[in-house]
Amino acid sequence: MSDPRKRVAILGSTGSIGQSALAVVDTHPDRLQVVGLAAGENAERLAVQVARYRPRMAALATPQAVDVLRRIADWPADTVLAGTGREGLVEVATHPDVDIVLCASSGTDGLEAVLAAIEAGKTIALANKEVLVMAGGIVTEAARRRGVAILPVDSEHNAIHQCLHGRSPSEVKRLVLTASGGPFRGRTSSQLEAVTAADALRHPTWQMGRKITIDSATLMNKGLEVIEARWLFGVDADRIDVVVHPQSVVHSMVELVDGSLIAQLGVTDMRLPIQYAFSYPDRWPAPVPPLDLARPRQMDFDVPDTAVFPCLALAYRALRGPGSLAVVLNAANEVAVARFLDGTLPFTGIPRVIEQALDAHEPAACQSLAQVRAIDQWAREYAADVARGLQLKV
Ligand SMILES: NC(=O)c1ccc[n+]([C@@H]2O[C@H](COP(=O)([O-])OP(=O)(O)OC[C@H]3O[C@@H](n4cnc5c(N)ncnc54)[C@H](OP(=O)(O)O)[C@@H]3O)[C@@H](O)[C@H]2O)c1
Repeated sequence: MSDPRKRVAILGSTGSIGQSALAVVDTHPDRLQVVGLAAGENAERLAVQVARYRPRMAALATPQAVDVLRRIADWPADTVLAGTGREGLVEVATHPDVDIVLCASSGTDGLEAVLAAIEAGKTIALANKEVLVMAGGIVTEAARRRGVAILPVDSEHNAIHQCLHGRSPSEVKRLVLTASGGPFRGRTSSQLEAVTAADALRHPTWQMGRKITIDSATLMNKGLEVIEARWLFGVDADRIDVVVHPQSVVHSMVELVDGSLIAQLGVTDMRLPIQYAFSYPDRWPAPVPPLDLARPRQMDFDVPDTAVFPCLALAYRALRGPGSLAVVLNAANEVAVARFLDGTLPFTGIPRVIEQALDAHEPAACQSLAQVRAIDQWAREYAADVARGLQLKV
């Protein structure tokens, strides 16, 4: 009898989502098999993963990381080491034995791999929202043409995907994404002037990678998710709302035309949405305790404060314009967040860098990957210049 297991490639296996995905595989060894692993620079962790899961192929992002790997690892003969950079990600994602590609690498280098995997007919489990923010039209059109499913791993979109299951688009009035509000909820703009990266990295409800944690603190994470939702569910900006829900119990909601709100609730553990993307359309038991509704708890909902957190409004502005604006938004945000993390840009400088890059850009429709990459490159250079002008003394 042939092996019934779904064969998974994980891009970003050494990160927060990647490790949670491997924990899901550990829970369901009879249902899932790891056939591809790709990481950035963490050769030590990748070596441990390769020794344990024996994938058909593995990759690291840089030749330097590969050198480290060669020094430390007793490499299994049956695992091929792919190339570095974007090509390595493409090789892992399109390996003939792969059924599902989980894109959980941070940054934008996974874009080519996601497109190549779609062309190769693989199912996509998408954690990396930047891919859809940069090239949502190109990616979703390719998936439609090839008949490939893009299954959301982001907990909010995973929740909406569950709420929409079995419904016709004509029943849906709007999507409601919930936001924890991040560690600075309730602060004033002047109180945000002096916050540090260490303050911003203390997220109240989720344990995540550094970049997404800063995005949560600025509310840009929710802005990127609004754009992601537009492409995943084909719903316009005017029908996607955000509510602040500090307890992160309701992962998101769908309002139907009769006013009913359908919500998905659960504990804050990324293994659940990852598992659902792997199991879809089935459901499997999970090793996570269910939400205990008998425990006294409060659930609050509030409107986001876009005067104090302008990044959310900037994302709506980008989504309402031609596609190149979202590319600029994403690239300028990545540059600004990196400068904030290295201590050279104040927290309040992040939206200023993004806004100035959006203002300086001549918006255009984005039809090709080459165009997306060119605009991305321009925006990174422009944002770096603006950030230098706002630089803090370190
Ligand atoms: N964490 C969450 O709860 C969460 C929730 C929803 C969505 N997401 C999204 O999922 C993605 C990953 O988030 P995360 O929190 O897991 O981030 P993370 O902990 O920082 O991990 C990032 C992963 O990407 C790898 N990577 C970075 N650059 C790479 C490159 N050029 N080529 C190949 N691999 C590369 C890293 O490798 P090394 O560490 O080896 O360098 C690491 O494995 C992000 O797009 C994020 O927005 C995360």
